[in-house]
Amino acid sequence: MAKRNIVKLGEDVLTKKSRDVTVFDDKLWTLLDDMYETMQSANGVGLAAPQVGILRRVVVIDVGDENGRIELVNPTVTSMKGKQRELEGCLSVPDLWGYVVRPAKVKVKAQDRYGKEFVIEGDKLLAVAMCHEIDHLNGVMFTDIAEEVLTASQLEERKKG
Ligand code: CO
Repeated sequence: MAKRNIVKLGEDVLTKKSRDVTVFDDKLWTLLDDMYETMQSANGVGLAAPQVGILRRVVVIDVGDENGRIELVNPTVTSMKGKQRELEGCLSVPDLWGYVVRPAKVKVKAQDRYGKEFVIEGDKLLAVAMCHEIDHLNGVMFTDIAEEVLTASQLEERKKG
């Protein structure tokens, strides 16, 4: 495994739509392994392939719950329920946070690293992470859809107040 560079806000690749994965080979497995290592070493809970400069529909997530490491290839949200409004950050946007309204619960259909289809359900942080990462595959950043975007110092002020 190898750590990859994380693309930062302002770079074109983050605004583009990713293509489906059609070949489930060792190149994909290396990408998934590298993305997981990159995410973990940056203390993130999710990472999408465009964030390492690859326009393919590949996501890794680990929110520290019983699901452990989650790999989503060609994911789509198939159902949503309710609403939650939480503070989000992004490894591609190290200096901004934002309040984003997301579904409280989502069901996602995806393929695993071998191409086998599965369905995963999530609420709370897992629902946020899945929606946030799938947005990346469509070129959407949380800063595009946040109700409010805050800098580190604004966030500090907010916590104090
Ligand atoms: Co992100």
